[in-house]
Amino acid sequence: MSSLSGELQLIHSEILECTKCELHKSRTNAVPGEGPYDAKIMFVGEGPGQNEDEQGRPFVGAAGKFLTELLESIGLKRSDVFITNIVKCRPPNNRAPRKSEIEACNPYLQSQIRLINPRILCALGTPAINTLIGDEYSASRFHGKPLTKGEITTLPMYHPAAALYDASLKETLLHDFKILKQLLDKEKTHSPSTPKIAERSGTKQTLEKWV
Ligand code: URA
Ligand code: SF4
Repeated sequence: MSSLSGELQLIHSEILECTKCELHKSRTNAVPGEGPYDAKIMFVGEGPGQNEDEQGRPFVGAAGKFLTELLESIGLKRSDVFITNIVKCRPPNNRAPRKSEIEACNPYLQSQIRLINPRILCALGTPAINTLIGDEYSASRFHGKPLTKGEITTLPMYHPAAALYDASLKETLLHDFKILKQLLDKEKTHSPSTPKIAERSGTKQTLEKWV
């Protein structure tokens, strides 16, 4: 595990003992997430699967292996990014998390986002996209289309697991990771203290397209 700030560590220990929704009953381990506390990129998936539940770590199964490959395709390592999910406990038999469970867990995700304060938030799959930017967005219509709100740009993507069932989505994901790389390069050329970013900060209440 990489370094976590004290406050983030506190939230993660709360998650490990959380009983705020039904999902706590069937979990083996809660999966708070992992990565540097000051990561520039944060990935948000749907929820832990069997491997994640057993190990207490996010994206360690087949979808995780593909996520690692996608990161490597743009020169990033897993340890460069923060990875978490909209629900921190595994839904039984990998069913989709319920709205009530997503809502119960959302304060943890929002605290993680606030503390890590990433520049780019990658939403993996429609449930994560809906949770982060709204119910009117879907992976099929909005993948690869970044949206900026305040200082954070959200990039909707297909879930890597979807490519394990539909091989054509593999190319789509590889393409969308190139967009992620472009966003990252753009961020690097505008340091966070430049007036351009400062101007953007907190002034935009509504979602808008990147550029
Ligand atoms: N799928 C997810 O959405 N999250 C994980 O952590 C693993 C697989
Ligand atoms: Fe708590 Fe989230 Fe786990 Fe539900 S899924 S028990 S809200 S940590």
